[in-house]
Amino acid sequence: MKITRTDFPEDFLFGAATAAYQIEGSGFGGCGPCHWDTFAATPGNVVRAEDGAVACDHYHLWEDDLDLLTQGNFDAYRFSTSWARVLPEGRGPVNAEGLDFYDRLVDGILERGLKPFQTLYHWEMPSALADLGGWTNRDVAHWFADFAEIITRRIGDRVAAIATINEPWCVAWLSHFLGHHAPGLRDIRAAARAMHHVLLGHGAAVERLRGMGQPNLGIVLNFDHCTPASDNAADMLASATQDAIFNRWFIEGITKGTYPDEALAGLAPHMPVGWEEDMVRISQPLDWLGVNYYTRHIHAFAPDTPWPSTRDVVGPLPKTQMGWEIYPEGLYGFLTRMARDYVGDLPIYVTENGMANADEVINGAVNDHVREDFLFAHLRATERAIADGANVKGFFYWSLLDNYEWAFGYEKRFGIVHVDFETLQRTPKASYHALARALSR
Ligand code: FCB
Repeated sequence: MKITRTDFPEDFLFGAATAAYQIEGSGFGGCGPCHWDTFAATPGNVVRAEDGAVACDHYHLWEDDLDLLTQGNFDAYRFSTSWARVLPEGRGPVNAEGLDFYDRLVDGILERGLKPFQTLYHWEMPSALADLGGWTNRDVAHWFADFAEIITRRIGDRVAAIATINEPWCVAWLSHFLGHHAPGLRDIRAAARAMHHVLLGHGAAVERLRGMGQPNLGIVLNFDHCTPASDNAADMLASATQDAIFNRWFIEGITKGTYPDEALAGLAPHMPVGWEEDMVRISQPLDWLGVNYYTRHIHAFAPDTPWPSTRDVVGPLPKTQMGWEIYPEGLYGFLTRMARDYVGDLPIYVTENGMANADEVINGAVNDHVREDFLFAHLRATERAIADGANVKGFFYWSLLDNYEWAFGYEKRFGIVHVDFETLQRTPKASYHALARALSR
């Protein structure tokens, strides 16, 4: 059964999401270097060593891209403003061209009747600050708050909502413990510091923007459903430990001012001295929560490795181009869990959900029916969560465009609009048309 707009509350927002480095083209408009440029330039980190220098050239094609949102009957657009574009050295001199770009972009979003949902940090740590340790350095909190203030002074009067950080788990754990994302560290001490400083940066930015009277502040967290490989106590603990690191650390930090014991079990010795005193700042009240959800993982105890002593087991469900299992039940689970255990009636937005598929343009069309099924199943899961009491106010598909998928370069296609990375031509896929029909009024 297909979805229609009327299946959702009257004020529910349907949107699509993107991020600056993944679409804009960091080679344009005086943007400064960021840690993704050098991570990509280091052999073995990124497929074909691709970077975001051109990406979708959204820097020049943004008007056409915004038109795709209106033609798709969307209500809102989630985008990010690059720190390195606004402050090429991370602090100090401002790139006027960068601020002008975001000014025009926000006006363009509003002119098309869309609500601008801004993210402040979607991973472009300016290289000059990466040199000083980036998220491992406590000073990052006030550098980030300064950036938040500068961009907000320019466009804060027109955005509908601001998220401080996109996916702190990726910023901290994936990038400093697992080493898959920039800066590519695999070090538990760096990881513990980043796990804390990313939330301290969030708290410092919220404090600063609140002080300026800026409304509707939130954060975007990612969640991954954890399934134990068996009901053995050791596998159950492995799964609970991953759940604590991935799904509890950040939400408990910001809503309760505590970190889960199962995660501190490994991280406590490596935390920055005096971290407990930061928790009040970290847990300031928010106006909304963003939930990003893609998949689940199955966790088993791995006795021969140091803490967290877990390994992933390949699951039986159908998988996307990323190899991620399709598990809409997990989205229902997190939306209801957030409402029940953490945020009560606070507005929740699904700020990202989507799938990669090896899409091809054939005779001018892309028949990604598998993505339609994925999308509608996750919208159904969202609808059920609302019926069961979660105050979900909107859903943003990831992503509007095929784009730079980080360590996977341009290989993994998440868009509802296909991008030919040679010609930069955009071709709306079948899923885009299906969603446009569902959203028509
Ligand atoms: C999320 C990121 C987004 C994109 C999707 C597939 O983790 O926020 O930039 O890479 O995954």
